[in-house]
Amino acid sequence: MYTVPRKTRRLGKNLIFRPEVASTNSLASTFAKSGEISDGTVVVTLHQSAGRGQAGSTWHTEPGRNLTMSVYLEKPVNAADAFMLNIVSTLAVADLCKSCGLNDIRVKWPNDVLVDCRKISGILCENSIQGETIRWSVVGIGLNINQTRFDGFNATSLSLQTEREFDLNAILEELLFCFESRLDQLRDGFRNQLRTTWTSLLYLHRTQHIFNTPAGPLKGMITGIDEVGRLIVETATGPRIFGPKEISFL
Ligand code: BTN
Repeated sequence: MYTVPRKTRRLGKNLIFRPEVASTNSLASTFAKSGEISDGTVVVTLHQSAGRGQAGSTWHTEPGRNLTMSVYLEKPVNAADAFMLNIVSTLAVADLCKSCGLNDIRVKWPNDVLVDCRKISGILCENSIQGETIRWSVVGIGLNINQTRFDGFNATSLSLQTEREFDLNAILEELLFCFESRLDQLRDGFRNQLRTTWTSLLYLHRTQHIFNTPAGPLKGMITGIDEVGRLIVETATGPRIFGPKEISFL
């Protein structure tokens, strides 16, 4: 069903396909811990029975209709630059969406991709950190492709946006190509350009909004992210900085 991509140099050259798995991130991490996996390996499945999302949430999708996969990367960035992996992976998904003819593509902090203000992709980056170094990362990407019903969720898919059916294997290959290109830019020193491009796509950037915080609703405007990827919100009392579990919004 899934085949080794031709368009990439490194990502997916080792492709682990399982028809069903609990979570591709969990499987990739298990392989990483036992050393049975090499840089650029991709774990992909048709169905996750226990797909995981950000902040302990779950990730459910219709079996066989969407892309659910994880990319294993060795020493991708320094620990201080961990957020760059979110930037690179969300930009890769945005690039893929653009190549499929989609418009109004936004990245939603910290690592979602929205099309027409509806979620098309969620990303879960998990890192094994030792001191200042990330020994390895597993970047898990869930991308809605051919699913057309999302009862109760503000979600969309490539198919809903275009009224076409997509070949999952072709999308995997294109997405890995986009991801590899963005990783190359990061390796080649284009960190600031990547941040600028990402910020230019940021959902609710410079728009007044009411956010949810543990202390209650907060009115403010996103002005960007700090060096480590925390969200900066300008409020009536000045700028405030939030980590992923400290603020939410739609
Ligand atoms: C989120 O939006 O909360 C992140 C969702 C991440 C889902 C992907 S699907 C492939 C990989 N394996 C998982 O268990 N989760 C990620």
